[in-house]
Formats: sequence, structure tokens, C-alpha cells
Amino acid sequence: MADPAFAFGENWARFLTSLSDRQIEQATGAVSTLVGSDLRGKTFVDIGSGSGLSSLAARRLGARVYSFDYDERSVACTQELRRRFFPHDEDWTVAQGSVLDRDYLATLGQFDIVYSWGVLHHTGQMWKAIENAAGLVRPGGLFIIGIYNFRGGRRGTATWTRLKRWYCSAARWQQLTWETAYVCWQLVSTAAVGRNPFRMIRDYHHGRGMSWRRDATDWLGGYPYEAATPAEILEFVRGRFGFVLAKQKIDLGLGVSEFVFESSHAP
Ligand SMILES: C[S@@+](CC[C@H](N)C(=O)[O-])C[C@H]1O[C@@H](n2cnc3c(N)ncnc32)[C@H](O)[C@@H]1O
Repeated sequence: MADPAFAFGENWARFLTSLSDRQIEQATGAVSTLVGSDLRGKTFVDIGSGSGLSSLAARRLGARVYSFDYDERSVACTQELRRRFFPHDEDWTVAQGSVLDRDYLATLGQFDIVYSWGVLHHTGQMWKAIENAAGLVRPGGLFIIGIYNFRGGRRGTATWTRLKRWYCSAARWQQLTWETAYVCWQLVSTAAVGRNPFRMIRDYHHGRGMSWRRDATDWLGGYPYEAATPAEILEFVRGRFGFVLAKQKIDLGLGVSEFVFESSHAP
């Protein structure tokens, strides 16, 4: 039987129904923290663009943006954001394609900024995906990736791999039951440590402009799912490409760690 896969685009379509200006500002702040606030004259590829929010942020910061995603509904979401905010814009291209497809990537050329947040661990071939993505960085360019942190133990990566795989092949009522249980547990455990769960949800998008509820679904269902330790990422990217680590933000749990590498070769 084929491995099941999560319908990312469906979740992103729900996300776009309530996207606010404030969330767009938060996302723009998050992208600029990683890549800088003036991207005029730079080319930016958003691999696995999902909702299109990071692409929109990069375009707002002045970059010439190429967004692609494997899932056609995610592509439609990115197109929708382009239509809403940059209609008839020649400096923002949206396409369908896979980071695992080397023939497709070979048609794209290279970019000043290669950005792929929360994507490469969902391809089913994470190391190949990282390698292919890094190949799109032009000499002297930036390589920004967000990758799930690996944790051992009973509540670690292996258990969550099984849970996510199960979710993707479960009946809808089972998915909804599991989501409800998870969401309630999160709210109760937040309250149990003295935090207001409703404020936590309200403020959640401060990070990247995302929605707590949609991210919960993305977390429960996001399969294929892989993870890596920061040391594994550093060794792989430095060893294979000679890139230099410029910045990192490590998640100590099972969340996404962010890495900003600079291609060491000057243009
Ligand atoms: C968790 S979402 C992240 C979306 C976006 N980068 C963000 O930060 O919100 C993962 C996205 O990766 C896309 N994806 C999965 N496999 C892919 C592949 N092989 N090539 C390109 N995109 C892929 C999914 O369709 C989904 O939209």
C-alpha cells in the first residue's frame, strides 16, 4: 500500500479564510529577521510555499519571488495571495513543482535567497530534498531552512511518525476525535502552568503570522515526517556545500529549528 500523505493545501485554504493584515505584518517581520528587511534587487525562491504567506512577505520586502509547491491546493493558495495583493505582478511567479524533481529544478536557475521553511522534512526524502534545495543557491547567496528537531524517547520523533502516519490513513471521525483531544490537552496543559490559553491562541501568530488551530492540524497530520538534530544539519550542509552558518534558532522540543547559511563563494 502506498504511504499516505497529508493534504497540506486543504489546511492552507482554511488558513487563508481568516488571514489578517496583522498576520501578514508578523510574517513579514519573521522573514526579514532571517534574510534582512531590504530585498530589493534580490531573487527569492520559496520552496513549498504552502499558503504563500512567506512569499508575500518576501515580495513586500522587495524581492523578485518564485514560489513553488508540490500540492496543487497549496499552489492555488499562493496564487490567491498573489491575486489579492500583487495582481498582474511580473516579479512574483507561482508554479507547481517538487523539490525532489531534479529536472524541474534545473529549469529554475539559481537564486540569491533560497528559503524553505517547514517543508523539506515533509517530502519523504529529507536529505535529498535538502541537497536539491541547496543546489539552487547562487554563489554568495543565502540558504534558509526550517527543519523539525529530532528527539528520542517515548514522546519523540519515532512515536510522532507513527501517529501522523495513522492520522493520514484514519477515517475523518477518527481524525476529528484525535484533533479535539489534542487541542483540549494543549489548552488544559497551558492553563495548568498558569498561562491563559485564550491569550496564548490570540498571540500565537506573533511568531510567523500563523494560526494556532491550523498549525495544530498541520502538526497532527503532517506526513511524510522526518526530523534531524542541529548537528546533523550542520554537518550535512557544511560538508556537502561548504556553506557557512550565519544564524540558527534551535527548537529544544519537536518543533522547527531555523538555519541561515551563507554560500561561501563570492559571486
Ligand atoms: C508545513 S507546510 C509549510 C508551508 C510554508 N513553507 C510555511 O512556512 O508556512 C509544507 C509544504 O510543503 C509542501 N511540500 C511537500 N512536499 C513537497 C515537495 N516535494 N516539493 C515541494 N513542496 C512540497 C506541502 O505541499 C506544503 O504546502
